[in-house]
Amino acid sequence: MNVRLRRLRRTPALRRLVAETRLDAASLIAPIFVTLKKKREPIRSMPGVYRLPITEAVKEAKELAALGVGGILLFGIPASKNPEGTGAYAANGVIPQAVKAIKKAVPGPVVITDVCLCEYTSHGHCGVVKGGTSEDASVDNDATLEILKQAALSHAQAGADIVAPSAMMDGQVGAIRAALDENGFEQTPIMSYSAKYASALYGPFREAVESAPQFGDRRGYQMDPSNVEEALREVAEDIREGADIVMVKPAMAYLDVVRAVKEKFQWPTACYQVSGEYALIKAAAARKWVDEKQLRMELAVAMRRAGADLIITYGARALAQQLSKKE
Ligand code: PBG
Ligand code: ZN
Repeated sequence: MNVRLRRLRRTPALRRLVAETRLDAASLIAPIFVTLKKKREPIRSMPGVYRLPITEAVKEAKELAALGVGGILLFGIPASKNPEGTGAYAANGVIPQAVKAIKKAVPGPVVITDVCLCEYTSHGHCGVVKGGTSEDASVDNDATLEILKQAALSHAQAGADIVAPSAMMDGQVGAIRAALDENGFEQTPIMSYSAKYASALYGPFREAVESAPQFGDRRGYQMDPSNVEEALREVAEDIREGADIVMVKPAMAYLDVVRAVKEKFQWPTACYQVSGEYALIKAAAARKWVDEKQLRMELAVAMRRAGADLIITYGARALAQQLSKKE
């Protein structure tokens, strides 16, 4: 036999030499939940992930930097919530405080802030709700843009390296770009949650930031899982509005979308392995039904193979550790 494809699979060294896809800690982004409370709090559905007080978030950022992790993505849990989510732009809010503390103490990694209202609204929706109740479709797009602009600006003023709008409001990238530019932050990049699907995989995250919608759901603004052409329209629009990095979210169930976006736009593309994906892995691993390390690496490589340049994952630290040990 001339052709024996197994020849190159025989040893770890050979397999490594001919691997088509590489994963590097520098392209990983670790989400961090920050609280104003004094003590860390576990998140029941996300074993190993905590809501961290600012001092501990700084420590976490340092450790991630030491492992070579490229970025951190901050989510804030405010002291109190209200219907308009005005806590999202408090100059001394949880995110500005955390950004300042981290930027002061840790030279790398890139500090990215989530820009949305659901962590700050009492009803849990990602925007201002017209009339106060009813359902998701009543989230007022343009009124929400005004608050998102202020939120993004408050993060940039605190020193955020990148702002990441996740509310899925039409025009959010353009509105934030204009607000940043008008205030001297024309060099602050935007990573847009461009194609964010209405997914059951966000459950654990909503426990983490107490943002489950009190009525209705998010289908009036997040995308229908059936659609891929629509994702391309979302990405095209975000790039037109000035997005520097575009994102597909969740990851595992939407790798076809990642591939389509990367092929069509050749733009820096991130994908977000969300809380529910992390929970699935952890739950099966806890029962020893899957090999956690192998699965974590396999899924991360799959995201890269699909075309993702950047991977946002709660497993960033563990992945970086595995990569450094060549596991
Ligand atoms: C909402 C937001 C969500 C996530 C981050 N920001 C989804 C949602 O609650 O609808 C999900 C992240 C995760 O599940 O890890 N702006
Ligand atoms: Zn939101």
